[in-house]
Amino acid sequence: MTYHRVASFKTAGDLHAYLAQLHVDLAFDPEIESGPGSPLAQPYRLPDGLTIGNRFCVLPMEGWDGATDGRPSELTFRRWQRFGKSGAKLIWGGEAVAVRPDGRANPNQLMINEHTLGDLIALRDALTAAHPGACDDLLIGLQLTHSGRFARPNDKKRLEPLILYHHPWLDRKFGLPADYPLMTDDEVARLVNDYVIAAKQAQRAGFCFVDIKHCHGYLGHEFLSAVDRPGRYGGCFENRTRFLREIVAGIRAEAPGLRIGVRLSAFDFIPFCAGAQGVGEPEPFEGPTYRYAFGGDGTGQGIDLSEPKSFLDLLAALDIHMACITGGSPYYVPHIQRPALFPPSDGYLPPEDPLMGVARQIAVTAALKQHRPDLLIVGSAYSYLQEWLPNVAQHVVRTGQADFAGLGRMVLTYPEMCADVLAGHPLQRKRICRTFSDCTTAPRLGLASGCYPLDEFYKNRPDAEQLKTAKQH
Ligand SMILES: Cc1cc2nc3c(=O)[nH]c(=O)nc-3n(C[C@H](O)[C@H](O)[C@H](O)COP(=O)(O)O)c2cc1C
Repeated sequence: MTYHRVASFKTAGDLHAYLAQLHVDLAFDPEIESGPGSPLAQPYRLPDGLTIGNRFCVLPMEGWDGATDGRPSELTFRRWQRFGKSGAKLIWGGEAVAVRPDGRANPNQLMINEHTLGDLIALRDALTAAHPGACDDLLIGLQLTHSGRFARPNDKKRLEPLILYHHPWLDRKFGLPADYPLMTDDEVARLVNDYVIAAKQAQRAGFCFVDIKHCHGYLGHEFLSAVDRPGRYGGCFENRTRFLREIVAGIRAEAPGLRIGVRLSAFDFIPFCAGAQGVGEPEPFEGPTYRYAFGGDGTGQGIDLSEPKSFLDLLAALDIHMACITGGSPYYVPHIQRPALFPPSDGYLPPEDPLMGVARQIAVTAALKQHRPDLLIVGSAYSYLQEWLPNVAQHVVRTGQADFAGLGRMVLTYPEMCADVLAGHPLQRKRICRTFSDCTTAPRLGLASGCYPLDEFYKNRPDAEQLKTAKQH
């Protein structure tokens, strides 16, 4: 299957024509505005009066490059400095930081505890110091996580999953036996306490908010699809959101004044695998409905936003005003989570034009924003738009389909894209992310994540050679 490369669309007409051919509804502004009056330069005011200086958001981007004791390395500092340098005024979480050792997605994931707190402060300060201009309208949060089913705390190659229920497809895909133990309700209650301790520490470290991560197949997200789990944390919607409600109650009691946000996978699909010629296809399933996709319609590939809308209603009821919308998981449906032309090493060739994946996330986010216009909503998955990212982002924000354009992979290659757009500078085309997926493949192979194809710093590291060799096999 061949898809047209985004770089080949030289005019707005070219892109329009291709989108029409794909039957993809993705609107964009033909011209980018710059200067203080432009849509992406507008400040956003939170209900408590805090102002965020513009409409660009840096999405959380982990590097698999911390020390094994959970402290950041030079590579982590460099990445956070570049987040600051981008000019974006909302830093959604920095990167996933584990609330305790067994929750790490890899042995090099950051952790928050008394031992690492000084380094996390330094990390935040480094970001602030690299930020161009004033910092009083720069909002920096910290993403708190437990990796659950995808925990690899001790060995990059060995999963040590903590699971909430037996997922028929994911258990098989990742080799879990039928008698693999589930986390007990008491263990969940202890984990709630760990989140509250972590949030208190994040507040002491000067982070403006914590993100209670509910996305990408990690533990918070797994609660939302735990329809088969008996007990307090499974079954009905109220039980499946108890984990969040208990953490929030604990934070309100122990860290008053700390803002809370939630990054949510608002839709999900049945796991995909490489089929004929390596192209992704859904795992087959029998039975009337696929029950394990939060935000799914039961078909395995359709979307029903009833529960995600209830989830946003719950956030509002909990006095949470910030949500970052994403979808799926990089472990079993990377094409809906981070649309790319070139798959990561554990992925599959794109089963659809990646523009469809971008449009899907934008449409879901717009529907949720329409449902709760009172919430600050960040959209994700814009990087595949490449040259056209600013045009789509401006249109989305200008028309109120999201409040912020969140940038992930693009910030690894070309952090100053935000600053260039705001200043009206031409885009630096050679630095635009082309979604080669090396930033995902490298950590899958046990190497640090970074942009190996385009960032000279990573290109010249010994890891680049190892990555090249590993990709040839
Ligand atoms: C290397 C890499 C690391 C990531 N780390 C995180 C993370 O720590 N937390 C998170 O919520 N999402 C993480 N993501 C997902 C991104 O935040 C984002 O949702 C995704 O890349 C799609 O946005 P984009 O098209 O702008 O890249 C990561 C993505 C990549 C490629």
